Amino acid sequence: MSFRRSSIQDLFPREIDIEVCLKTLKIYQKLEGDVNCVVWDASLVLAKYLETMCVDNSGFLSGLKVLELGSGLGLVGLTAATLGAQVTLTDLPESLSLLRLNITENKSKISSMGGYAIAESLIWGDSSSDIHKEEFDLILMADCIYYEEAIEPLLETLLQLNKHLGKTPIMYLTQEMRDSEIQKRLWDTFYERLSENFNIEKIPEEQQHVNYRSSDIVLLKITRK
Ligand SMILES: C[S@@+](CC[C@H](N)C(=O)[O-])C[C@H]1O[C@@H](n2cnc3c(N)ncnc32)[C@H](O)[C@@H]1O
Repeated sequence: MSFRRSSIQDLFPREIDIEVCLKTLKIYQKLEGDVNCVVWDASLVLAKYLETMCVDNSGFLSGLKVLELGSGLGLVGLTAATLGAQVTLTDLPESLSLLRLNITENKSKISSMGGYAIAESLIWGDSSSDIHKEEFDLILMADCIYYEEAIEPLLETLLQLNKHLGKTPIMYLTQEMRDSEIQKRLWDTFYERLSENFNIEKIPEEQQHVNYRSSDIVLLKITRK
């Protein structure tokens, strides 16, 4: 399924500057819908952190093979691609049409920076996907700890993606800490289970983008134990 001109009228664009390379991403959001109809704050924090890392080391992302899980509208993956990475953005099959529209919309900016972006279906826990056979330098996730039933499948996918002997990816995850008891419990469960197999380092706020950081959003660097 792809978005036709008539359905684009039900969308509204959000423009987000990537200051470090003077490009502006245009991301179409839906006027109404489920969790992936807007760009979430956690993805802004992660996208801007990638940018911050490129201020200190402009070639940091150039040519890296990057995978994004639960991309939603694609801000994080599109930022990495505009900073020169070869990015596979993934989500549930039903989320891909808008994600692909956002890739197409930003394609010329991405290719002018030497980057590349493609969208593929990746359902967490589905080990049949060929994506698990690939080796990535970086794996990115923003606001993916949201669904109780998806926690174990997501952990399974992270283990699968870390099973290659040649290359162990570095993973960055942002998550908004929500007030509800159920969300707090979900986060605690995920964190505890993640720490069984992975080293987790919390990136302090002062190392994040000066205008895009928040005490409500955690940023973790994760590697396989
Ligand atoms: C809260 S949204 C965050 C979207 C985006 N990362 C952002 O921060 O703007 C969570 C995303 O995870 C995706 N998702 C949920 N369950 C999933 C699953 N089992 N497999 C793959 N993706 C899933 C949703 O479709 C959605 O795009």
